Amino acid sequence: DAGKGEYDHYMLKEIHNQPTALSNTIEGRVENGDVAFDALPAGSFAETETVQFVACGTSYHAAMYGAQLLREAGLRTEVVRASEYDSTAGPVDENTLVVAVTQSGETADTLDAVRTATDRGARSLAVTNVVGSTAAREADDAVYIRAGPEVGVAATKTYSSQAVTLALLTQRIAADVPEATPAADREEMLAELEHLPEYVEQVLEFTEAAELADDLLDSESYFFIGNGLSRSVALEGALKFKEITYEHAEGFASGQLKHGPLALVTEASPIFAVVTGDGDEKTKTNAIEAQSRGAPIVAVGPDDHGLVDVADATLSVPDTHPVWAGLLANVQLQLVSYHAADMLGRPIDKPRNLAKSVTVE
Ligand code: G6P
Repeated sequence: DAGKGEYDHYMLKEIHNQPTALSNTIEGRVENGDVAFDALPAGSFAETETVQFVACGTSYHAAMYGAQLLREAGLRTEVVRASEYDSTAGPVDENTLVVAVTQSGETADTLDAVRTATDRGARSLAVTNVVGSTAAREADDAVYIRAGPEVGVAATKTYSSQAVTLALLTQRIAADVPEATPAADREEMLAELEHLPEYVEQVLEFTEAAELADDLLDSESYFFIGNGLSRSVALEGALKFKEITYEHAEGFASGQLKHGPLALVTEASPIFAVVTGDGDEKTKTNAIEAQSRGAPIVAVGPDDHGLVDVADATLSVPDTHPVWAGLLANVQLQLVSYHAADMLGRPIDKPRNLAKSVTVE
């Protein structure tokens, strides 16, 4: 337990370690407005036509983040839950890149999906935290997220480092593929990335997540919505919340709320609406719809986007490029989950029934 230092739990330590982890993730990978990975020199993806991400749990949400960016660059992209690979993955050929996103590099479902894809001719790339892991050894190439060891079962810093690594990787891939159009504002995006560690520091210093968790703790259900890039943040927020609080939490794409989940919305079901400057209108409309049914709305994101004027509460983050704002919103949601679980007296670092790495299918 000495490893927890001044913190009560590894999870809180790892949340606070994110500025350092992110600095390590970024180091040496952005040079003169270009993205460079030692293992993947320019031209590495010249033959790539389709990118298929495979992952589980939190890593799946990071994969969604990367896939959305790649789709915006014009590439054919798919995100497949590794456990459902056989029944849901699209066709694969030698121009398919299968990207395994796995913190541990040992998740059986993910390893199995990559083996299936490579048997069908795909080229493989592992994006992992663990040097020498099975995923890293078996894949054609490996890129490390450099988050450092994570002890808490609930993934926190590794999600942030995965999302940043994948955002950079998408720029690297898009630069090689002739049909792709790298992001128009890519220079601004990469310049803002250098400030991300200090923005995370600011969130950690000024957050009101503990007070908010205390205010909302008697609720029946907790919903998380977001659109565009924020959708994956909403799904991750809900997953983290249910994993460590044992409370009922669900994440939805904003526009999906009215197609069923709205029946569950009451004054005892707060809605965390992730608004980051990427497709926020739908989030705003649907949050207001829920609010009119009595649900308290918590706007999570930079102040000058979306919902601030009508929300019942806000968890603010520094204003930055939408690609990074979602990751700051995620840090706020990590803290809400942590404080809620702490107030409920849950065993935060080792939630019941869950394992850090699931090595059975
Ligand atoms: C388990 C863990 C999750 C993790 C998932 C994928 O379900 O409890 O926290 O996100 O496995 O793990 P990986 O090591 O492949 O990222």
